[in-house]
Amino acid sequence: MTVSIREVAPRDGLQNEEPIPTESKVRLIDALSETGVRRIEAVSFVHPKAIPQMADADEVWRRTTKNPDIRYSALIPNSKGAQRAIAAGFREIEVVVSASDTHNRRNLNRSTEESVADIAALIPLVHDAGATLEVIVATSFGCPFEGDVDPDRVAGIVARVRADGADRIAFGDTTGMATPRRVRDLLSAVRPDLLHFHNTRGTGLANILTALDLGVTEFDASVGGIGGCPYAPGASGNVATEEVVHMLHDMGMDTGIDLDRLIETAEMAEKLLGRTLPSGVLRAGPRTRLV
Ligand code: COA
Ligand code: ZN
Repeated sequence: MTVSIREVAPRDGLQNEEPIPTESKVRLIDALSETGVRRIEAVSFVHPKAIPQMADADEVWRRTTKNPDIRYSALIPNSKGAQRAIAAGFREIEVVVSASDTHNRRNLNRSTEESVADIAALIPLVHDAGATLEVIVATSFGCPFEGDVDPDRVAGIVARVRADGADRIAFGDTTGMATPRRVRDLLSAVRPDLLHFHNTRGTGLANILTALDLGVTEFDASVGGIGGCPYAPGASGNVATEEVVHMLHDMGMDTGIDLDRLIETAEMAEKLLGRTLPSGVLRAGPRTRLV
């Protein structure tokens, strides 16, 4: 079985760290693009006051060495972000909207309904530019402000944006509230193309295995396990890419990623960020290095 991993450390990871120099961001993306990973979420085009870490997104992207084998994407919060991403040359764009109204207001300063309306308006812009739009429904498995999120609410948002022309759907577990039970409940109501888990409560790999059982084969992951949303209290890192790859390869699944190179990149990320990263594979090495 082939599993497709999208590396999100340059965006989800770095947005939750102390800002690092543009050059360091470019080095991280360029190193990731030599690991065999086929998709990288490179930057976001959000308000620089909301996320100062992404204020240099245009320059980061301009200086990135574009590997023709890699699909690079950008995350946006609204129509203005869509215009910026298109102008920068992105052809894969992800827009985020939260299933929970409270998180959407904290994160995007508007209601979920207003964001869904804005998404309907920006889809033609994206398509006219020859690009695709993925809608990431954040807080799909629970909200740090509202608690449980009804799968029907997520399904309702998906139905709306699909009818408006969204090309792909992803579900984000913004603060690591998903469990295998919640994954089954939501996926039996509505199916995404891709899943994005945070490992805040240690359930990330269990959630991925559950989703694989249910037929989803695309996942976001972040090298070193960095990541989090500054507008969600308690949010911590994404599931670490090297932990996901280590597990999947040992189970005979293919990701196209060279685990040793990925671990070297995690070590590099640790140096760039100047702190110890949470990944267990980074600490202990892969299974074969333990004997
Ligand atoms: N990039 C840069 N500037 C933007 C922008 C974007 N995507 N969207 C809006 N702006 C600018 C507008 O042009 C306007 O500028 P002006 O004052 O010079 O005219 C100003 O911001 C206010 O516009 P408004 O639409 O009222 O935005 P807002 O202040 O309500 O902020 C968001 C809304 C969505 C832009 C902001 O909350 C945001 O960027 N959030 C992202 C949070 C995030 O990235 N979270 C983590 C990822 S999920
Ligand atoms: Zn995230």
